[in-house]
Amino acid sequence: MKLFKKLFKPTKNSRKNSKTKKSRKGFFFFLRHPLRWWLFPWGIAFCAVVVFTLAWHVLQNRYGFSEGEKAAATFVAVENMRYLDSITTDNLQRSVAEKIAGVVVHDPGKIKSSLQDLEDFSPEESLFFFAVLDPDLRRMLEYLSLEERKAVLGEVHSLGLRILERGLFDGEAIESFLWGNLQNSLLPWSQQNLVVELLYRLFLESQSTDPYLTRKLRENLRESVEPVIRTLYRGDVIVEKGEVITPPRARILRLQGYREALFPWKYLLFLGALGFFWGAWLQEYAENSSRKKGTQQISLLFLGWLLFFGWLAEIPARWFDVTGVGTLLLGGWSFLSFSFSLAFPFVLGGGLLGVLVAGTPFIGMEAAPFLVVVSLAYASAHMLRNVQVKKKYWFRFFGAGIIAILVLAGSQWGEGGSVDLQQALRFLGAVLFSGGLVLLGLPLWERFFDVLSPLRLTELSHPSSPLLKRLQVEAPGTYHHSLMVGTLAEVAAENIGMDGAFVKAGALYHDVGKLRRPQFFIENQQYGSVNAHDELSPTLSALVIISHVRDGYELSMEYGIPRKIRQFIMEHHGTTCLQYFQKKAESLGERVSREQFSYPGPAPRSKETALVMLADSVEAAIRADSHTVSRITDLEETIHGVVENKIKEKQLENVDFTFRELEIIKKSFGEVMRSMYHSREIPKKEELSSLQGKENI
Ligand SMILES: [Fe+2]
Ligand SMILES: [Fe+2]
Repeated sequence: MKLFKKLFKPTKNSRKNSKTKKSRKGFFFFLRHPLRWWLFPWGIAFCAVVVFTLAWHVLQNRYGFSEGEKAAATFVAVENMRYLDSITTDNLQRSVAEKIAGVVVHDPGKIKSSLQDLEDFSPEESLFFFAVLDPDLRRMLEYLSLEERKAVLGEVHSLGLRILERGLFDGEAIESFLWGNLQNSLLPWSQQNLVVELLYRLFLESQSTDPYLTRKLRENLRESVEPVIRTLYRGDVIVEKGEVITPPRARILRLQGYREALFPWKYLLFLGALGFFWGAWLQEYAENSSRKKGTQQISLLFLGWLLFFGWLAEIPARWFDVTGVGTLLLGGWSFLSFSFSLAFPFVLGGGLLGVLVAGTPFIGMEAAPFLVVVSLAYASAHMLRNVQVKKKYWFRFFGAGIIAILVLAGSQWGEGGSVDLQQALRFLGAVLFSGGLVLLGLPLWERFFDVLSPLRLTELSHPSSPLLKRLQVEAPGTYHHSLMVGTLAEVAAENIGMDGAFVKAGALYHDVGKLRRPQFFIENQQYGSVNAHDELSPTLSALVIISHVRDGYELSMEYGIPRKIRQFIMEHHGTTCLQYFQKKAESLGERVSREQFSYPGPAPRSKETALVMLADSVEAAIRADSHTVSRITDLEETIHGVVENKIKEKQLENVDFTFRELEIIKKSFGEVMRSMYHSREIPKKEELSSLQGKENI
């Protein structure tokens, strides 16, 4: 209970700051925050559960089995293994044991006493003795005379004793011994035959089957049969489709990592929890990452969406035995959409979890897919970052795939198996297919989630992009100005660790609104021509100039320019005032308000737009006057003055540039301006002062 209170009770600090900033300290930070904090982790957990359930239904027939049921697919071995073939061993043991009909034992004592009886009885009495043995033999003895009978029985007695002496028990041995000895006998042939028959009967009677010995012998024989150990090689068939899965086969399937077709609730719970906690961590990371960098806010919905697709791709990947390939989708989309510091943990964690979500439950824990995921995350991080041209993209995507194939082959080789070339080819196919999907998906994400990939930024910044092309033709001065602002802002952005390409693209479009009335902007007025503003009142002039923001917004909508670029158009003047025209109006005795000469705003809401505002003003301030001097310190003072002015005008209030960052920005502007003017004279400070109030135009 105490722990519960601790977790849910807001800390002193968080209570104090609750109106301004939520405390994010502690691992259970998300438990103390309103519903929206829960949404992302729950969303991730939900995605994991949905993809897992889907994967289970799609793949259970292929990878799951039910003991005693017919196999829904052919199951093959996924790894080499040795196992005891219990069925064959049992059959062999049974067949060996069944060969033994029974253990026959002889009782020499019984024979001896019978022979003794024969000796003791008179020939008449012995007749009855043999009659007990066999009625046929008795009849044969009755035909003989007493003398003959005596001779026969005498022979039986003496031969019987000799057989016993020799220890003969085998029927054939006894027979050959008898016939050998009877050759020299004086008895007629028929009586010799009778002797053999009588002795044979005598010995047969003394034989019996010993059940104990028989059982013992059978057991020994069973044990003497070597158990049949079989080796199963990767790819060998365990059960054919349609065959009944017997208990021994089910055992092999289990050993091979195949799962029984029972819905694994426990695993699902584990996945849900893992997804939830990873999602919570990712959310905090994403928020911190975009706050620190000051770059575009990452849409958490976009992250969730990407994960969903990355994981979903693992289902067919599992089907084609190329598990882990979903990481390439995640990598492609992430490294082309947001910063490395967020993309890398997202791709690595998402890829590993993806294998757990859609691959592992059906095949067991294998090392290879996890190795593939890690290598793909690293490879895509280093190869897909900052890819600006599509040709390069394909080349690098292919390279990332090759690295993963090498890792896969290495792990197969390391596990003692041979390298599966067919799988490598399938992997290559999957890599190229993923590359196509990444390119197909990017425009969709750009449209729905407000994402700007380096590829899209390159397209937008290219001089052949339609709106820039128009700017070149219809307002060449503005185009030139935009290029200058772009260079200034790009260099400064990169020096403070921001996305230079994004800032440059924003700068190139910031003044497109001037296309509607280019002649009213000084950079487009040709030398010696009449200034269009000369015929307008200062109030109307200001109105025309201010309208370039609104016009720019409308044009950018018309040309499908992304929202993030449109922000540069809307915010690059913030709520600054056209002091030049305001003063001019006042000097003419007009009663004017500051609002009439101010841009509608808003003031820059991101570091990027603020940077373009500064670069724009600096460029305008230095360009506007054609008088030149050569003092560098004047240039630096001007830059410093422009920045200070913006701070004074409260234009940088919504962005948190550090003091150090502002210094770097000013220094970068100075360096770029110096290199641009290296062959030209630098405008004189005193003359620049005449431009005060014009830098906002
Ligand atoms: Fe402008
Ligand atoms: Fe501008």
